[in-house]
Amino acid sequence: MKTSHENWGSRLGFILATAGSAIGLGNIWKFPYIAGENGGAAFIIIYLGIVFTIGLSVMLAEIAIGRSAQTDAINAFRKIGKPGWTFVGVLAIMTAVIILSFYSVVAGWCIAYIVKSAGGAFSGMDADAIGGAFGAFIGSPVAPIVYHGIFAAITVSIVIGGVSGGIEKTSKFLMPLLFVILIALVARSVTLPGAAKGLEFFLAPDFSAISAHTVMAALGQAFFSLSLGMSILLTYGSYVDRQTNLGKSVMQITFLDTLVAILAGLAILPAVFAFGLDPAAGPGLTFVTLPTVFNAMPGGYFFAIIFFVLLTIAALTSSISILEPVVAFFSNMGVSRKAATVGSGVLIFLLGIPSSLSVGIWSDIHFIKGQGFLDSASWLTDKLLLPIGGLLICIFAGWIVPSMMTREVSGDATPGVLTRGWLFILRFVAPVAILLILLSGLEIVAF
Ligand code: PFF
Repeated sequence: MKTSHENWGSRLGFILATAGSAIGLGNIWKFPYIAGENGGAAFIIIYLGIVFTIGLSVMLAEIAIGRSAQTDAINAFRKIGKPGWTFVGVLAIMTAVIILSFYSVVAGWCIAYIVKSAGGAFSGMDADAIGGAFGAFIGSPVAPIVYHGIFAAITVSIVIGGVSGGIEKTSKFLMPLLFVILIALVARSVTLPGAAKGLEFFLAPDFSAISAHTVMAALGQAFFSLSLGMSILLTYGSYVDRQTNLGKSVMQITFLDTLVAILAGLAILPAVFAFGLDPAAGPGLTFVTLPTVFNAMPGGYFFAIIFFVLLTIAALTSSISILEPVVAFFSNMGVSRKAATVGSGVLIFLLGIPSSLSVGIWSDIHFIKGQGFLDSASWLTDKLLLPIGGLLICIFAGWIVPSMMTREVSGDATPGVLTRGWLFILRFVAPVAILLILLSGLEIVAF
């Protein structure tokens, strides 16, 4: 078996690429709303608690497995000497392919919105008219698929350049740009008259809104946001050299991801409230409410364009991270990187087509729980595959190879209290928490 020997060019490159994976649509279109709905600052405190204990621990485990194996997610378990666990890698790669197929469709909408905003397509329209235009666009059979193809092609063109020459180089350029745009948007938003109401919705702590349901929402959001359980971190970890301190790196990545989620809340909610609109989660907020806000805001033409550029960048640094595990696997099977990348890109493009059509001419075809293809794919990964992947990673790291994990994280030094705390979380706390997410997602238990 040939294994890939590529490495990150620098620790900063690794941090930015991995933060790029974590920072995505999840941070920008989901977090602000979930936080606002679930008790504002009270939710943020719980989210921080979960992210910096369970989230960070699972991330560290996944990266440590990757570094010790130095190969792709499927071959990693064999190389570590536990071939019976190979199915975990297979499951994770399957999850990656499914997620990317619909993520790319939605990212295609973001590119379309850069073009539409630049061309003034929404100028003068009210929320109803923009909602109608959005529905007509995503429901049309050709244009969204073309944009999905463009996004998939950009993703392929970056990944084809390799780990340090493609992914790392792009992340080192795009991540700082993402921060600059986000800060410009925050500055615009919080200085609008009436912004305070949005700040209050996002930040005022309401501890009475906290329930078991809130904690579940925070756990699920933390998982998706940190890109856990989808073979990305394992693959990115395999390119990390032995000198890199994994614990410190994971802290920094988690910090950046959380910072962007909070900044996104500060960029979006004050502006939405300043114009008396209702915030909503997901596509409605991004593609209908915000264009309405931009229409009303001074400088809105410019801010609309940079907002959709921001979303596209966030989606792109996530999509390259999820194509890479697939490419790494095929390259290790002896396929050239170029053929592996183009081949996986085409597969993902084709799989995305039913997702795109499912919000238009195929909206009558239902799969899981009466949902169309896109919502079913999202449900399957969110509620089932990601938690199962995360659970298996915890069990593997915490129970099957704990001493190897300890060595990977603390080197030759005797494991300190932090490492022991980490193992405790991996063995006991995280599996129980993830099992609860799984059961509540499948509606077997209700919170
Ligand atoms: N962490 C990403 C986000 O918050 O959007 C999750 C993700 C989705 C990563 C899709 C990669 C990806 F292709």
